[in-house]
Amino acid sequence: MTDWSISTLALSDWPKAQTPRLQSEKTEALIERILEWLTPAQKVGQIIQADIASVTPEDVAAYHLGSVLNGGNSAPNGNQRASLADWLELADAFWAASMRADGPRIPILWGTDAVHGHNNLIGATVFPHNVGLGATRDAELVERIGAATAREVRASGMDWAFSPTVAVARDSRWGRAYESYSESPQLVAELSAALVRGLQGISGNENFLGDTKILACAKHFIGDGGTHGGRDQGETIATEAELREVHAAGYYATLEAGVQTVMASFSSWGGRKMHGHKAFLTDLLKAHWGFDGVVVGDWDGHGQIEGATPTDCPDALMAGLDMYMAPDSWKGLHASLLRHLESGRISQERLDDAVRRVLRLKMRAGLCTQPTPSERALAVRGNIVGCTAHTELAAVAVQKSAVLLKNANNVLPLQSNQRILVTGPAADDLGMMCGGWSLSWQGGNLNPTDYPHAETFLAGIRRVGQEHGGTIIYSPDGRIKDSPDIAIHVFGEPPYAEFRGDLSTLDFQPRDKKDADTLKRLRKAGIPTICIFLSGRPLWVNPSLNASDAFIAAFLPGTQAGALADVLFATNGLDFSGKLSFSWPQYADQYALNMG
Ligand code: GLC
Repeated sequence: MTDWSISTLALSDWPKAQTPRLQSEKTEALIERILEWLTPAQKVGQIIQADIASVTPEDVAAYHLGSVLNGGNSAPNGNQRASLADWLELADAFWAASMRADGPRIPILWGTDAVHGHNNLIGATVFPHNVGLGATRDAELVERIGAATAREVRASGMDWAFSPTVAVARDSRWGRAYESYSESPQLVAELSAALVRGLQGISGNENFLGDTKILACAKHFIGDGGTHGGRDQGETIATEAELREVHAAGYYATLEAGVQTVMASFSSWGGRKMHGHKAFLTDLLKAHWGFDGVVVGDWDGHGQIEGATPTDCPDALMAGLDMYMAPDSWKGLHASLLRHLESGRISQERLDDAVRRVLRLKMRAGLCTQPTPSERALAVRGNIVGCTAHTELAAVAVQKSAVLLKNANNVLPLQSNQRILVTGPAADDLGMMCGGWSLSWQGGNLNPTDYPHAETFLAGIRRVGQEHGGTIIYSPDGRIKDSPDIAIHVFGEPPYAEFRGDLSTLDFQPRDKKDADTLKRLRKAGIPTICIFLSGRPLWVNPSLNASDAFIAAFLPGTQAGALADVLFATNGLDFSGKLSFSWPQYADQYALNMG
């Protein structure tokens, strides 16, 4: 019987992690000297991260805050479509505030959810979400995506991506399943380590955390992908052995790749929230695995600890959290932590250890020798964001992430000189192609001008179709006068993020099967039909599968979705190579369906 109230782990059963030894005596000595003259208020400030929508540069200076983030819906002046110049201007303002002569002059650290490219920034390259990258099985491609993402994040004056998610999603009802590479621990380990190498560089190499690199963050520690019923932020149902063999895989791999930050999970295990679970944050991650970077909290996640609130939570720090993500709770938290230091509820030793880690992180990231963000290498160079090299890379990722589930009657590849009907609500909808975390937290409602280099699926089919002498007719509802030779129906899930995407069934469109009805109408008219299904996860789509001749799982391909057209026409011999990295359900209630 599993003891769910466990508060310690059988650490001897947990293999050690091959965490690289990066400490330098010189840096450590400098850190100790800084610690000696920091005031308690300055120390507490360094371990607090505020959201740019709730903090000003003046606040950063007054409270000596160590970090800011832009949450999924936060942007300069509250404008989701703020320009690159606006982001750089704000980064300069926060940096200047942190470097004022009357303060400790410790440079601010800016974190952002660059989870499939620099997705918060207008004009950025938006790559396929991890669910699609898992289908590529291509670690080298993922590493290149990490490197491209790092360059676009750097170009906008930021230092840190809250990525990769190393969740091993075990129930596709989870609203974050698409942020996971796979249900397979081995595949998650391989691809998440590749992304860390791309984002940070290779520890030991001279470009490690250099001018074109940023800090990565393995998240959400630990067990976020194993919650009961796939419920986001829920209780992880796993024995200690399953946590070790399934959910820890991405941490072993990314720690070995030198990941410098780890984000605590909202989820709980044994009835205890991870943000307050010392056995994991300290005993396992730091003492047993030797992690000497920073454990950052998730969005007020510390406030979910029993007895805590977002503005008052000493337990998280004492459990091993090093930086509170306190978006709009930062001021109250700063005051309460000072009170707890005074009363001894938090120890000077633990506070100093957390500050030591934050200072070490900033020094390793080279922040202390960098000029103001807008004068840094890639910000000055310009034309990095959405550049052709990145969009071409994204196009390859789109082509390698699509999975051909069915090709009856050899309707694929498409032939030359065909009259092709393109139907479906998603064919020209960039929002549905990018999914959540795209310009806004929940994604959707994107305009073509948001990503000028983007190519929707319809645009791609028009581009390649014309090259093959084809005639493309676009009719979203599939109704046209004269019969086409073939129809392509593009449909799928509307965008979502986190708990807003949690499902109670895997049945796609359980109530109103409007897409299946369109397909049945096309079939009745004798028109061969190809389905392009956009989703963040496998879903039960048998009515559509059975009503079509070919069916492609394209997942969430991002701004270069149109590149899929090259595969449909087998341009230069291109063929489908994607392989499912999540089991596809045969029945709508096959929830916890995993390889092996
Ligand atoms: C969100 C997510 C986390 C993200 C953070 C900052 O709630 O859980 O993945 O990095 O908040 O946006």
